[in-house]
Amino acid sequence: MTAAGATAALAFDAVTCTFAARGGGERYTAVRDTTLAIAPGEFVSVVGPTGCGKSTLLNLAAGLLDASSGTVMVDGAPLDGLNRRAGYMFQADALMPWRSALANVAAGLEFAGAKRAEAAPRAREWLARVGLAGFEDRYPHQLSGGMRKRVALAQMLILDPEILLMDEPFSALDIQTRQLMENELLELWSANRKSVLFITHDLEEAISLSDRVVVLAAGPGTHPIGEFAIDLPRPRDVAEIRLTPRFVELHEAIWQVLRGEVLKGYAQAKH
Ligand SMILES: Nc1ncnc2c1ncn2[C@@H]1O[C@H](COP(=O)(O)OP(=O)(O)OP(=O)(O)O)[C@@H](O)[C@H]1O
Ligand SMILES: [Mg+2]
Repeated sequence: MTAAGATAALAFDAVTCTFAARGGGERYTAVRDTTLAIAPGEFVSVVGPTGCGKSTLLNLAAGLLDASSGTVMVDGAPLDGLNRRAGYMFQADALMPWRSALANVAAGLEFAGAKRAEAAPRAREWLARVGLAGFEDRYPHQLSGGMRKRVALAQMLILDPEILLMDEPFSALDIQTRQLMENELLELWSANRKSVLFITHDLEEAISLSDRVVVLAAGPGTHPIGEFAIDLPRPRDVAEIRLTPRFVELHEAIWQVLRGEVLKGYAQAKH
């Protein structure tokens, strides 16, 4: 249950994830006893230091990893296998280099059984929606980094998933392109509110996009150590909202919690 009492779209219920060590060494507990719920239509960002377990959390939600204990719940039912109500967007480019932009966007529909002739017009429509009309025939290597992210966004949204799982999707982009993409994501999201679990290590990105920001502790055994409601008005322009006094206040409050964890994470990464 979420605070509002509705069934959560996605919930971690006391989830722990332990990795077996290679060569019989000690096991590594990446995520320990994590409880976290995302309400239908809610945009939640998770921030935490590098290596703390953010991607692990996302992979658990995607059903790509099994919890060692605890349960991942989707719409009130325990997740078993792949999370088919979710769409993913990962940090690395995941476009198929041998397919054109159009064919990349159409791919999910085709894999789900749609005929190419039905899938193509819908893919064309989605490419236009992410600002890529006229680029249908380009291959990924003929597109800029920002354009490839737009294709990936269309590829995810065309399947109309109820839950969006995004793992630092814009972190490889320059700041201007990144802010354009963030605004586009917000616009698409507000037109048709999905539940979003957005992973980032960038606190400003987290605050400017989200309804709620969750701070994870440094690993091992990461878990939420702070949760902040982001009461900034929508619609937002991610570049402009950063200049408002309330944003600065929220940033200060969350950074108080995150700062120590980032320092711990950094110290661990040096070993
Ligand atoms: N399949 C695996 N087997 C063993 N250890 C793993 C595996 N996947 C992740 N880990 C370990 O779990 C910890 C968390 O990794 P994870 O990728 O979730 O971190 P992250 O917070 O996403 O990091 P980053 O910010 O760098 O993307 C790391 O110490 C990592 O080495
Ligand atoms: Mg990661």
